[in-house]
Amino acid sequence: MEYITLYNKVKMPLVGLGTWDLRGQECIDSVSQAIQLGYRLIDTAQMYGNEKEVGIGIQQSGIAREELFITTKIYGNSNSYLKTKKAIQQSLKNLQVEYMDLLLLHEPYTQEQEMYKALVEAYQEGLVRAIGISNYHGRRFESFMKNCSMIPMVNQVECHVFFQKEKFQQELNKKNIAMQAWSPLAQAQKNIAGNPILQKIANKYHKTPHQIALKFLVQRNISVVPKSKHIHRLKENLQLFDFHLTPQEMEEIKSIDEDRTLFAWTEMF
Ligand SMILES: NC(=O)c1ccc[n+]([C@@H]2O[C@H](COP(=O)([O-])OP(=O)(O)OC[C@H]3O[C@@H](n4cnc5c(N)ncnc54)[C@H](OP(=O)(O)O)[C@@H]3O)[C@@H](O)[C@H]2O)c1
Repeated sequence: MEYITLYNKVKMPLVGLGTWDLRGQECIDSVSQAIQLGYRLIDTAQMYGNEKEVGIGIQQSGIAREELFITTKIYGNSNSYLKTKKAIQQSLKNLQVEYMDLLLLHEPYTQEQEMYKALVEAYQEGLVRAIGISNYHGRRFESFMKNCSMIPMVNQVECHVFFQKEKFQQELNKKNIAMQAWSPLAQAQKNIAGNPILQKIANKYHKTPHQIALKFLVQRNISVVPKSKHIHRLKENLQLFDFHLTPQEMEEIKSIDEDRTLFAWTEMF
């Protein structure tokens, strides 16, 4: 596994397992199998309703807690300082851990500053090793940054070969914020396997177009959290570190960018 170093020196794996839409036994098995295969980052959220199953999967993997990087996110139903404090305790309980590695505000909220205050305190108390935000861009990002007392370490946003966000990554990096990509495989909404540019590059490296799509992000130092409930895909999505794309291939993949979201709900922010 390769890592990106956050500004507070915490190392975050460049590849993790996304768990949106994984439920019940399937979630437990996917998390446990993924960790056994070598995944070290697991991405969940209170909104997904699967923190308990993620916690069980982690326990069942048999891998030591300190080797893992566990992310969760605080949702809009915790829309006050006190509710967020409570929600943090609940996540620790659900996940059966004494600390989390990354805690994010899931989306911009009206009460984001008081909610974020609780995240900052959790960080200072050692309940989380890093804090951040998700789905912040444009004006909401600017206003958040003007008012926050601690620079977030991570901003997790939609990012994939069809929505590459190169300029935004530069802006984040200038502020020492790491960009993390959600739906790095475009949530299977686009035909990655049939894309001729990804196919051509995949053939050269004996990889799949999906691996090339993930590698493009990882090589830009963007942490990715692809989700799969199939063991062969879990393996595939991890095998990104034994080859390197040339600058020309990176340029070719840039030409796929459509520079727009696939998820209309993100435009509300
Ligand atoms: N912060 C946020 O607001 C936010 C929003 C969305 C997502 N997320 C996080 O990001 C994670 C990933 O995003 P996502 O789940 O929306 O979508 P994704 O990871 O981009 O794509 C998942 C889809 O791709 C398929 N897939 C996975 N690996 C594949 C491969 N190697 N070849 C072919 N198909 C493959 C999966 O199918 P199978 O499962 O059938 O293999 C699934 O249908 C989420 O699970 C969640 O943790 C965060």
